[in-house]
Amino acid sequence: MRIAIFASGAGTNAEAIIKATQTQRLDAEVALIVTDKPKAKVIERATNYNVPVVAFDPKSYETKAAYEQEIVNELHKREVSFVVLAGYMRLIGTTLLSAYEGRIVNIHPSLLPSFPGLDAIGQAFQAKVKVTGVTVHYVDEGMDTGSIIAQEPVRIERHDTVDSLQEKVQVVEHRLYPETLQTIIDQMERLS
Ligand code: GAR
Repeated sequence: MRIAIFASGAGTNAEAIIKATQTQRLDAEVALIVTDKPKAKVIERATNYNVPVVAFDPKSYETKAAYEQEIVNELHKREVSFVVLAGYMRLIGTTLLSAYEGRIVNIHPSLLPSFPGLDAIGQAFQAKVKVTGVTVHYVDEGMDTGSIIAQEPVRIERHDTVDSLQEKVQVVEHRLYPETLQTIIDQMERLS
């Protein structure tokens, strides 16, 4: 299974997925990293693992469809059959959704449907909930609204800060995402 990872930022989840493919915990090849931020840290991380990276600047396209069509062309060229969003901070439009229908997943740092959108960890902390967590879900046209594939809780303790909570959430993300991707790949292979 050739996958592409889309990321806009640090790329720690992208790195966890790449590592999982290299240690055979995930039976997939990361064919490409796509970023919408030409200076994102994920570029350096991918390069360290010799994974190809392409940066597309959405501002240099007249429409979202034109931007996404260029990405789709690149994905097809590299024979990508599955798309993994990992901190890609942009809504997926109809061009990508129809090209990869049912084959785009996302990870979000909360127990959806609670705390969708930006800064989910800060939102949970501010709300003073005792439990937040991580969700992996299929992507649809909404913001963090697609059907849920896996969830795992993370407790917020009295002594937690936003930073310590973020660290705990990331530890879960870096394990749960590769595990869930493997489960999806197993299911797709059984159905094919
Ligand atoms: C991750 O915590 C991911 O769940 C979150 O962005 C972070 C990216 O970190 N995604 C969202 O909030 C999507 N709505 P990373 O770049 O280090 O993987």
